[in-house]
This record gives sequence, C-alpha cells and structure tokens, in this order.
Amino acid sequence: MPKIAVLPGDGIGQEIIPQAVRVIKAVLGTKEAEFEFKEYLVGGVAIESVGKALPDETLRACQEADAVLLGAVGGPKWDHLPSPERPETAALLGLRKGLNFYANIRPVRMLPSLISTSTLKEEVLDGVDMVVIRELTGGVYFGEKGRSDNPRAAYDTMSYSEEEIRRILIKGFETAQIRGKKLCSVDKANVLETSRLWREIAIELAKDYPEVELTHLLVDNAAMQLVRNPKQFDVIVTENMFGDILTDLASMLGGSIGMLSSASLNGTKGMYEPAHGSAPDIAGKNLANPLATILSAALMLRYTFAMDEEAARIEAAVEKVLEQGYRTGDLARPGDKVLGTVEMTDAVLAVL
Ligand code: NAD
Ligand code: IPM
Ligand code: MN
Repeated sequence: MPKIAVLPGDGIGQEIIPQAVRVIKAVLGTKEAEFEFKEYLVGGVAIESVGKALPDETLRACQEADAVLLGAVGGPKWDHLPSPERPETAALLGLRKGLNFYANIRPVRMLPSLISTSTLKEEVLDGVDMVVIRELTGGVYFGEKGRSDNPRAAYDTMSYSEEEIRRILIKGFETAQIRGKKLCSVDKANVLETSRLWREIAIELAKDYPEVELTHLLVDNAAMQLVRNPKQFDVIVTENMFGDILTDLASMLGGSIGMLSSASLNGTKGMYEPAHGSAPDIAGKNLANPLATILSAALMLRYTFAMDEEAARIEAAVEKVLEQGYRTGDLARPGDKVLGTVEMTDAVLAVL
C-alpha cells in the first residue's frame, strides 16, 4: 500500500496541511482506500512533546513512506536553540539530507487571473512560466561550520563534490529538454571555487544535451534579471543557498509566496512542501493561503505516484477558483473579499 507520511509541523503548517489532505482525498475518490495517510510529529511541536525536532519514529516513517507531505517548521519559540537542535536544521535539513532529497523543484508560473494582484508591472509578468531547480543537500548549509568565542568568530564552508554537482545539473538539463529547452545555470564563478567547478561540469554536460541551450549567469545579475525580465527564463539550476534566496524572490513573479509549491526528489521518492515557512505573524488565524501546499500535493501525485490526471485536476481547480476571484489575504487587492484558509480550500473542493 502506498504510504504518505503527513508532517504538519509548526505555525501555519498546522492549518494548511489538513486542507491539502482534504484536497488529495477528494481527488483520489474511491482510490483513497489504497493509500495510507499517517501523521507524525516534526519541528517545534515535536520538541515540545518528545524533546526532539526530528523524532526517531518520524524519521523511520519518512524512510518507509513513498512520499512525505510537510507543512513548515520553526518559529520564534525555538530560535534560541543551538543550531543542531533547531527545527530548521535538525528536522528539515535532517530529512532532506537523511533521505537524500537532493533535487528541489520550484515551479513559478504567473496565472493570468493573478497578474493584477502583483506589485510588478503586468507586461513584465504576463507569460512568466519557469522552473527553478535548487540543489538541496550540499553547499554551505551542510559544509563544516564552527565558532570561537575569544576572539568572536564563526565560519560556514561551502563545498560540493563533482557528483553532487553533476546529478543536479543533469536534472536541470533533463527538465529543460522536456520544456522550453533553455537552461540557465546560476553561480558565482567570478569569486567562488565551488562555482568554477559547477560551471566546468555544466559545460561538459551540455555536450550530452545538444538541443538544450545552456547559458550562465552570476547570481547577483540573475536576481536583477528575474525582476527586470523574468520571461527570459525557462529552467534555472543553481546551488542550495542561491536557490533558496532566488526562489523567494521568484515567488512574487507568481503572485505570492503563498502560491509557490515545491518537490524535493530522490528519484520518484519525494518530500512535498510549500516553499514558504511557518509564518508566525499570521499563524492560528485561518489567514494562510493553502494553495502552495495544495499545489505541492499535486506535484506529489505527479512525481511520486505518476497520477498525472489527478495532479492536473488539482491544478485546474486552483486556477479556476482564482479566475472566479477567490482570494486569501496575500493575493487580495483593496476591495477584494478575503477568504480564510479553510474557505479557500472549500472553493477548490467545490470545483473538484
Ligand atoms: P515565512 O515564509 O514563514 O513568512 C514570510 C512572510 O510571508 C510572512 O509575512 C508571512 O505571513 C507570509 N506568508 C508565508 N506563507 C504564507 C501563506 N501561505 N499565506 C499568506 N502569507 C504567507 O518566512 P519567515 O517569516 O522568514 O520565517 C518564519 C519561520 O519559518 C522561521 O522560523 C523560518 O526558519 C521558518 N521557515 C521554514 C520553512 C520550511 O519549513 N520549509 C521555510 C521558510 C522559513
Ligand atoms: C526553504 C527554507 C529552508 C531553507 C530553511 C527553513 C532551512 O527557507 O525551504 O526554502 O533555507 O532551505
Ligand atoms: Mn527559503
């Protein structure tokens, strides 16, 4: 029986995950009985109840599951903890590394119905449709780090092996191959040794993908180009931290951080989570946009369970409710009627 480990986590994670589960179950219909959905503790809530952000039971369940559906982890209550115990590092990075989810896919698409809600100009956004592929288990997040107290100093090391770079670039080329055949590799090769190796390997691999046009951008320029003319991009591939920063920026090209879904893959096994965090500023108030999580659930059906039709049905339902003018606060303009997390999901379910 296919297993889905459900990890709501902290803050708005507790609100958006149950909504995404409602949508998955609705689209599965009678097939729901063929799946096992089981909820586990993760993040700050796990620290509170069992003293550990990534309890052994949760890790084991995720190892045994076909897919993990995660809300978000972290919050001010746990910010004082030493790095290895924090929800973000122990739980989120622990799961990504522990399950080797090295390929993070973040699709950014501007839906016509959301164009006018953006802070950017319509002509810049009209037609934006790109995928950012972020390396997720290497780089400065996982390199050697340390601290000394006298004198006060700290360091984090960015390191990458050839194999780590090669496999994520291959994911980039393969994705470009089945899309618009344009791959932009983003690095900082004017300064960083890891980026020089990255660029070298990208150029070597390009020979295997003659149909894909490979370009390179330095990350600072890439940030500027994403705002200046985002339509130039089809697929972007980049290292872990650059990808983190650029995808929050790129989320606004799709209307809101509340719309940005993500899949973290190791083959067909994956962890699916919205790109945003636990949003402590709006948590517990039924204000969060559930659509990034609902769209992540669609990615789960597509990538892990090869249920393309069901995934497309969810995506179409999301588009439909937005066309009908349904808005959560992050998408609303003055005068719009604002829906809560639950009511937005009700609207999606009504279309389904
Ligand atoms: P955040 O993404 O949680 O919030 C940034 C801003 O976007 C906030 O104003 C928030 O209200 C808004 N926002 C985010 N998601 C939204 C949604 N679905 N609907 C409407 N508005 C939304 O980032 P942050 O404030 O920098 O981080 C808060 C906490 O979340 C921190 O502890 C951080 O470490 C953690 N975090 C976790 C993850 C994760 O678990 N994947 C990702 C990012 C941040
Ligand atoms: C994300 C988040 C995480 C990251 C944090 C919470 C560790 O910002 O998934 O984008 O930096 O990868
Ligand atoms: Mn992030």
